[in-house]
Amino acid sequence: MDKIIVQGGRRLQGEVAVSGSKNAALPILISSLLTSETCVYQGIPHLVDINTTLKLLGGLGVEVDKESWAKDSGDLTLRADRVKNVEASYDLVKTMRASFLVTGPLLARFGRAHVSTPGGCAIGTRPVNLHLKGLAAMGASIDQVHGYMEVRAKKLRGAKIYLDLPSVGATENLMMAASLAEGTTVIENAAKEPEIEDLAAVLNKMGAQVQGAGSDIIRIEGVTSLRGVKHRVIPDRIEAASFVIAGVLTGGNVLVTGARPAHLDAFSIKLKEAGVDLVGGENSFGVKGNGKIKSVDVTTLPYPGFPTDLQAQMMVLMSVADGVSVITETIFENRFMHAQELDRMGADIRLEGNRAVVRGVKELSGAPVMATDLRASVSLILAGLVANGTTEVSRVYHLDRGYERIEQKLSKLGAAIERIRG
Ligand code: UD1
Repeated sequence: MDKIIVQGGRRLQGEVAVSGSKNAALPILISSLLTSETCVYQGIPHLVDINTTLKLLGGLGVEVDKESWAKDSGDLTLRADRVKNVEASYDLVKTMRASFLVTGPLLARFGRAHVSTPGGCAIGTRPVNLHLKGLAAMGASIDQVHGYMEVRAKKLRGAKIYLDLPSVGATENLMMAASLAEGTTVIENAAKEPEIEDLAAVLNKMGAQVQGAGSDIIRIEGVTSLRGVKHRVIPDRIEAASFVIAGVLTGGNVLVTGARPAHLDAFSIKLKEAGVDLVGGENSFGVKGNGKIKSVDVTTLPYPGFPTDLQAQMMVLMSVADGVSVITETIFENRFMHAQELDRMGADIRLEGNRAVVRGVKELSGAPVMATDLRASVSLILAGLVANGTTEVSRVYHLDRGYERIEQKLSKLGAAIERIRG
């Protein structure tokens, strides 16, 4: 298994281009199931999760042309005119929970989906009850058999759906299903993430009638068929913010190009509170390092709140900040696994249920550490950048699910980082 070795103490400097958003790309690729026409997507990052999605769609019978993408372009062409099965296997769904998003489109277009339940996950239980409740409200019958959800509906009907929690995945699944349902669907307490707006933009280009995406009430008038589409996905806000944190931690000047700072308001406000000088314009986002960071309290919340996907990275920053910070995680119940690894690097973090009390220390010290999930793994690399000595991060396959060529991008900024293949 690959490892990443980081020598700490280098000040990062320069520009880095952000990749397309993984979390926008996954549902958008899956939305190709809604039409028999050709769909062209641009800016698709080269990530393990994207390959898993292509394998999943290929297995259903979607024609995937990834020649140009494989040669580095970011362009993928998909065509779902010969879908031959409606089953998503446990092997794929267990490695990537977003696979469950095929349920809505398969059901809406073909009347049936047979999809493995995702099961547990390192960061929490992560059920799919809200996805299923919404589909049931639209008239689907749902049976659980041998670990699979057998979901059927001759024709989905529009319905009024209230989500108990503003789940990103449930909102996406239901938005796709409702696009081909008969009549009007209203999703209340919908998730408001930028990735939801991007999916809605794709669906509308395909001829769907989705209104209100980005607010907590989304209204979808069902149509009888959808057409092909060409679309460039939004930039990855989590990747952009992770690079900005790398700049702040090392007291460097880092500018992330192609980013959309408007998607990172809560994060920016917190950094400013911590005394960080942010720079950039409409499409760039960066930091002018001054080396001094004050502790701030952070609570993760659904968008536009502070993203849970930046909690681990923020914890690294608070580990070397001046003062005490309380970080509260309200989205996932078990998303502090990086804390123990950071403690091994000399951080002072006390966990109390869903709160982490982080006392800033003068210095972290490099150590062998283990990545436990996607965002935890990037946080260990960030810690390695600022730590004294060498940090060796193992189990980096988590990292490859969500960060495109991170070691190359960080090297270009001046980090001493390398991947050891094994
Ligand atoms: C998406 C993101 C992930 C991010 C998360 C929260 C993708 C591919 N992944 O995940 O990176 O961390 O949003 O911003 O976009 N829940 C239920 N029942 C459900 C669905 C969700 O109880 O049916 C709960 C979950 O357990 C969790 C919370 O709702 O506690 C939020 O989950 P959700 O917004 O659905 O996250 P994902 O879509 O899985």
